[in-house]
Amino acid sequence: MKPLDYAKAHHEDFLAELKEFLSIPSVSTQAQHRPDMVKAATWLQERLLAAGFSKAEVMPTPGHPVVYAEWLAAGPDAPTVLIYGHYDVQPAEPFELWRTPPFEPTVVGDDLFGRGTADDKGQLFIHVKAMEAFKETVGTPPVNVKCLFEGEEESGSINLDAFIEGHQELLAADIAVISDSGILGKDIPAIVYALRGLAYIEVTLTGPAGDLHSGSYGGAVHNPINALCAMIASLQDKNGHITIPGFYDKVRDLPEEERAELAKVPFDREAWLKEAGVPQEWGEPEYTINERVSARPTLDVNGIWGGYIDPGAKTVLPSKASAKISMRLVADQDPEEIKNLVMAHLKSITPPTMKIAIKEMEGGDAAIVRRDSPAMKAAFNAYAAGFGREPVFMREGGSIPVVATFQKVLGIETILMGFGLPDDNLHAPNEKFHLPNFYKGIETIIHFFEGLREFM
Ligand code: BES
Ligand code: MN
Ligand code: MN
Repeated sequence: MKPLDYAKAHHEDFLAELKEFLSIPSVSTQAQHRPDMVKAATWLQERLLAAGFSKAEVMPTPGHPVVYAEWLAAGPDAPTVLIYGHYDVQPAEPFELWRTPPFEPTVVGDDLFGRGTADDKGQLFIHVKAMEAFKETVGTPPVNVKCLFEGEEESGSINLDAFIEGHQELLAADIAVISDSGILGKDIPAIVYALRGLAYIEVTLTGPAGDLHSGSYGGAVHNPINALCAMIASLQDKNGHITIPGFYDKVRDLPEEERAELAKVPFDREAWLKEAGVPQEWGEPEYTINERVSARPTLDVNGIWGGYIDPGAKTVLPSKASAKISMRLVADQDPEEIKNLVMAHLKSITPPTMKIAIKEMEGGDAAIVRRDSPAMKAAFNAYAAGFGREPVFMREGGSIPVVATFQKVLGIETILMGFGLPDDNLHAPNEKFHLPNFYKGIETIIHFFEGLREFM
């Protein structure tokens, strides 16, 4: 039997096991799920050993553990592939908006619903099952394989860079592969070659020392919510350009040839508007929608609070106002540099009536990977074989900071072989994974590993 035939014959088993994995609520940001993180890591370790890996370990970090595994049966002359994924998931709240319980994975039609189905447990599991297909048929994978599965991606990977820096020899490889992104449509495979970075801050303005009666003081005491809104409004012009001096200085230009290529990526504006639930698009008029959401930096308020928000009217002049503000970055913007620039700018525009405090949050680097590598050729052919159609190259607006870390610390490129769909509801209620993509994903990864041997 061939690995592909094995994969095609075991859909039911693969699905049953994936459901087990998804039933463990591995929410990395919530303290009450700490034991579930260990449970999920241990479960993964066992599945890796069962899939043929000669070594699989749950390795501690100051936060949630890393699962490391290796299977180096192809020998020193064969290439080594490092598979990365994350077994932690986003919180499922608000629970009441789920049509099926988030941690009771449920098949509806062709989709598997549940937290972590697409991001990223379902996609990570594709690799485990592809390796199992090699074990059960030809005995070993065609190349050497290492796995690095982390449990803190959704909480900013705060301990991962140190882990990678401290285990460079253990993690040494020729190429990395990650399935934690998406393709364009059910039958339109795509390879992501660029990801955005992230800088994140939380700003608090304090006006009066305590809440005041807005009748007695309103008009002569500056309101911190009004002041914060004015400051935020000044950070962008009406066309979506960010007005912070120096913000665009390091932005790597989008070459005309690349724009021409991106313009060929299938894009249906009406469908996009419908999916986003907006009456029309917004943003920098000189860039296409596709470019705006993937090749241009952004500034968004993710949350804003202060004053009285419960039912009824309360005539209060509040003491404080806060906002969480994040910036999606592109190559070569440095998150630390941008954060410092934005913080200095906010301080400079803070009116003398206010005190400002800024909390710095975890960010990550943008990344662009080479499209002309032999491994990329193998990925291209693998998608063509797995989906019956050649993949298109696309940029992604989300962030996977480890890609830049792999480039900087391990000196290796990453091939982003995602299998999610644009409507998978990542981070939202009713997250799903399209099951045909799960199965085609396993087949595509088998093709990829077989192809690598030819190309590297
Ligand atoms: N898998 C996503 C990244 C992603 C999102 C890829 C959408 C493709 C499409 C990842 O788990 C994620 O959520 N990343 C965070 C990173 C942040 C916490 C540094 C993101 O993009 O917000
Ligand atoms: Mn993810
Ligand atoms: Mn995510």
